[in-house]
Amino acid sequence: MAISGKTRIYAVIGDPVEHSLSPVIQNAAFNALNINGVYTAFRVKSSDVATALSGIRALGVLGLNVTMPHKEAVISYLDWIDEPAKFLNSVNTIHNKDGKMLGYSTDGIGALRALRENGAAPCGKKVLILGAGGAARAIAYSLIQEADELVVLNRTVSEAEKLSEILKRKFNKKISTGSLSPEVIKEKIKNTDILLNTTSVGMTPNINQSVITPDILKTDLTVMDIVYNPCETQLIKDAKAVGARVVNGIEMLIYQGAAAFEIWTGQQAPVQVMREAILEQNVGV
Ligand SMILES: NC(=O)c1ccc[n+]([C@@H]2O[C@H](COP(=O)([O-])OP(=O)(O)OC[C@H]3O[C@@H](n4cnc5c(N)ncnc54)[C@H](OP(=O)(O)O)[C@@H]3O)[C@@H](O)[C@H]2O)c1
Repeated sequence: MAISGKTRIYAVIGDPVEHSLSPVIQNAAFNALNINGVYTAFRVKSSDVATALSGIRALGVLGLNVTMPHKEAVISYLDWIDEPAKFLNSVNTIHNKDGKMLGYSTDGIGALRALRENGAAPCGKKVLILGAGGAARAIAYSLIQEADELVVLNRTVSEAEKLSEILKRKFNKKISTGSLSPEVIKEKIKNTDILLNTTSVGMTPNINQSVITPDILKTDLTVMDIVYNPCETQLIKDAKAVGARVVNGIEMLIYQGAAAFEIWTGQQAPVQVMREAILEQNVGV
């Protein structure tokens, strides 16, 4: 749709932000549904977060995504945040609605929907999460509400333990932790239905690396890698080779974006259009 006086602005803020794929996903969705909106990227320095957010209010920018390093800093300038954002102390989506700034965290729901839509709903399943960083926390928060059991393994074990402690305070579920060593992974994977890599291992340029040795993967496993660059990581290749179900990082990226789109517009996101728009970018494929 041609830009006019009625065009509404949406954006991602972060530093750096030029690499973000959100403009590609969201503009494809606006075009597909004939919405008079434009999505761009603003590089905002940490010292400018407060002024940037008052600018957003003043200019009536309708929706924002927030990326590193501002996910925590934006919270003090918002009027309300949702439960996941409160738990994670992190906001990645802002809706400027009727003069109120509302904050959400959509990473967890993005991972959950990616699993569900790819035939691997975590309800009643045993889930093994590798990594305990920001994305792992969001994913663990969403998945523990449906899964039967959760194991978190991390290179820095104390981070996995911290995550487990805060989850146990809120949810009455079986959660255990350990180190990311090959021996521990081999032991834990025996009792796993869904395995998620949330570490950055395997990301470009280290595309031949994987946290898992292929010999311990099995057919009856769902393997999700949240690394999306490349789209098909070494872990995903190895999992495909043994006949396991695979879910790649692009799927999570699409569904967290779809959740943001639905918050801003109240319309169902055109997920297939968003997927095709990203794949056209040849993200490390
Ligand atoms: N698909 C999506 O929508 C989506 C969304 C968010 C993030 N991501 C991707 O997910 C990855 C993690 O992001 P994040 O925000 O969670 O980052 P983060 O907070 O920095 O966490 C990084 C995690 O990776 C682990 N790690 C890093 N290097 C490692 C290595 N060499 N060996 C073993 N473990 C290692 C860290 O372990 P320690 O605690 O020991 O350092 C930590 O658990 C990135 O590749 C990011 O692009 C994808």
